[in-house]
Amino acid sequence: MFTSTHPSLEDIVALAKRRGFVFPTSEIYGGLANSYDYGPLGAELLRNIRNEWWKQFIHKRRDMVGLDSQIMLHPETWVASGHVGSFSDPLVEDKVTAKRYRADHLIEAWLKEQKLESNEVQVENMRIEEMGEFIATKNITSPDGNPVTEPRSFNLLFETAIGSVAGEKSKVYLRGETAQGIFSNFKQILDSTRVQLPFGVGQIGKSFRNEITTGQFVFRTLEFEQAEIEYFFNPAQSDWKELFEDWKKSMWSFVTEILGIQAENLRWRQHTDKERSHYSKDTYDLDYNFSFGWKELWGIAYRTDYDLKQHINHSGKSLEYTDPYTGEKFVPHVIEPAVGVNRMFLMVLSDAYFYDAERQRTVLRLKPNLAPYKVAIFPLVKNKPEIVAKAEEVYQLCAVVAPTVWDDRGNIGKRYLSQDEIGTPACITIDYQTLEDNTVTWRDRDTTEQVRVAISDLAQRIRM
Ligand code: GAP
Repeated sequence: MFTSTHPSLEDIVALAKRRGFVFPTSEIYGGLANSYDYGPLGAELLRNIRNEWWKQFIHKRRDMVGLDSQIMLHPETWVASGHVGSFSDPLVEDKVTAKRYRADHLIEAWLKEQKLESNEVQVENMRIEEMGEFIATKNITSPDGNPVTEPRSFNLLFETAIGSVAGEKSKVYLRGETAQGIFSNFKQILDSTRVQLPFGVGQIGKSFRNEITTGQFVFRTLEFEQAEIEYFFNPAQSDWKELFEDWKKSMWSFVTEILGIQAENLRWRQHTDKERSHYSKDTYDLDYNFSFGWKELWGIAYRTDYDLKQHINHSGKSLEYTDPYTGEKFVPHVIEPAVGVNRMFLMVLSDAYFYDAERQRTVLRLKPNLAPYKVAIFPLVKNKPEIVAKAEEVYQLCAVVAPTVWDDRGNIGKRYLSQDEIGTPACITIDYQTLEDNTVTWRDRDTTEQVRVAISDLAQRIRM
């Protein structure tokens, strides 16, 4: 019935703002770069994505537990993890405007302009000096057409200060990933639960990065939400490649089956040796075909025992696991599937957005489990108290089953269009016939078909 379409980023941004999914942060003060707020509908959609992730990866699995660690951890955490030393992007500055850009992004944009395939020049394999040379020899300029400085490393960690010790503030960092809270709690999780290897710890929470690149909407922001899993195992007993493949399958089925994303818009990409993070032995990205190109949605990395060993060295504490059967002590290895909730949000909006030319409407084809409202209640007219009272009764009945919205503005056709645009799977109209036989008109978002349904059957009909 529907053919696949690709909305522009402008279409998505406009719909998101118009219908209360995403607002530019602090707009009354002129906004703040790379920062967005989630409006009434955006908050619901985000929550639905987050809850599905938690349900699938924590609640439904016997080998997983959850965690909620702090945004500010002991600063030594970030020294141990390597973030203080090497969590950086290659930064250049426009020599005229002083605006900052990522050198790799300038090169990528130039390659696109020259219509050069990215496999002819692999930016992800370039060292920072090579980027500098490339920019110089190809005369690559800033988007404003000005020359740029030599690239330099720019650390992405946000610094802040806590309290006051004898007049001196102590420096801490806003976490750059949620993962480190899992590693630093590893021993406490072992001691307080009955988990046995292999097992995983998942957490959802805010992370912060001093991102330079602007203009990618909620894809790349300063403050964002990560949903990360650290899956611990004994490398002598479990084959990491098998576990890695199992996790890749779980990620793929979450995205296609639970979030309802079209498989043709997804692909796997393995990181090259030069591109891979310092801690990883193998990394794949699950990419989504965003309107601005194929980009990382979800990464999976084999982090070995790197992090736990780093924390052992820096804290002086034992983070070993004792095998309950053999008594053997060792440091477990870990596989890490790490995704951004806000990137899933943008993917879901992009994939669901559809302009139905035949019926001249925009429809968000959200899976019902993700739709902010599962059903909308329309009293046919506002000025008939019996109809309004009956509609109120139906609203109460539906609202105990699922998130429900009330709309009594404008004609029914306009109300349908309004609900289609926010992805509400069904609309229920209460009319004169309802007063006689307790039936309502049920209208389906995707087919636009209307049927008469008994009020007593509504609860079981609502799709969630
Ligand atoms: N613990 C591993 C880690 O943090 P990452 O690839 O840097 O790996 C994981 O981040 C996921 O977090 C990414 O796949 C992406 O979905 C999301 N993410 C990273 N930086 C982001 C940003 N600035 N804005 C929004 N999401 C971001």
